[in-house]
Amino acid sequence: MQQDALTFAIRPNASPMPEADRLKAFENLGFGTLFSDHMAVIRWSADKGWHSAEVTARAPFPLDPAAAVLHYAQEIFEGMKAYRAADGRAVLFRPEENARRFNESARRMAMPELPEALFLEAVEQLVRADAKWIPAAEGSSLYLRPFMFASEAFLGVRPSKEYIFCVIASPVGPYFKGGAKPVSIWVSEHYTRAAAGGTGAAKCGGNYAGSLVAQAAAYEHGCDQVVFLDAAEHRWLEELGGMNVFIVMADGSLVTPPLGGTILPGITRKSLIALAKDLGYTVREERYAFEDWKADVASGKAKEAFACGTAAVVAAIGKVKSPDGEFVINAGETGPVTAKLRDTLVGIQRGQTNDAHGWLKVL
Ligand code: PLP
Ligand code: COI
Repeated sequence: MQQDALTFAIRPNASPMPEADRLKAFENLGFGTLFSDHMAVIRWSADKGWHSAEVTARAPFPLDPAAAVLHYAQEIFEGMKAYRAADGRAVLFRPEENARRFNESARRMAMPELPEALFLEAVEQLVRADAKWIPAAEGSSLYLRPFMFASEAFLGVRPSKEYIFCVIASPVGPYFKGGAKPVSIWVSEHYTRAAAGGTGAAKCGGNYAGSLVAQAAAYEHGCDQVVFLDAAEHRWLEELGGMNVFIVMADGSLVTPPLGGTILPGITRKSLIALAKDLGYTVREERYAFEDWKADVASGKAKEAFACGTAAVVAAIGKVKSPDGEFVINAGETGPVTAKLRDTLVGIQRGQTNDAHGWLKVL
């Protein structure tokens, strides 16, 4: 019972935010606090499959207190952005990659897969309905958050028989308060993010719930983000709370931890690997020990480092702190390779650089 196409009922919001208020809010965009007028919703039940697709006014969901998501955390999500290109077009960046990863997450969490065409249709319908919510200023975009949760009222532990898929939209500026300034990271001392066979490669809410205490420790140590080491040896770099990580070596090569099931297969990561190769860099997807990183920075073998993800884009890492001390990378400044990769990626996303890979979807 897999429907590839559904007709979306379009129910425009009868009281959208007044234009003057929206434009005022656009003047000072942070991350994830402002929301557009609409949401796209599709429902799933074991007897009907996917049904009741609509774009409607953004509003709370009535949820039974026994809804499975509230007890067993059967929930997955995606993060993607719509950009206002230099010529005024509204564009999405590699949306089919998000649709594919969403279903990988769904399989891991024993949830129904959403046909990719329906995922894309829901995202596009929402962006069309809320096109005026795509900010145009440099560094801003409309962050899109597709998600799905178990809505059946049932306390037995088994996959839910009802789900709600929804897409909401939030105009955003920089993810980090410091804007484009290099970030500092804290090496998680006590906590790991994911072990082999766990849910590390899925974009499920539980992974983030489990990371919050480690992220809080990062803040306590004055850092912007936590970086996790592997669960087995507590030695190898994995990823940050919400970003993948790259190290730039003095010989111009790049190293990034491999996808082994414990880290999220980032779409920004994958795109930067391709762009770095286009620009003539060698990229090695291989394990890199924290102690080697420390030694390589001290000896000058490792020159730059950056975090990357949809929300954070490409953020240079200027300082690394751990219980044993700290070290500074590239004098705490954004290095040339990081800047080149960021500018190339952002240039494509904003329609300013040739999109040689055909990554943009024009709406
Ligand atoms: N790793 C984690 C844990 C994340 O939350 C994210 C953000 O989505 C990423 C990596 C980067 O993934 P992407 O580039 O697809 O946004
Ligand atoms: C994203 O980059 O889309 C994420 O989901 C990560 C989160 C830190 C906002």
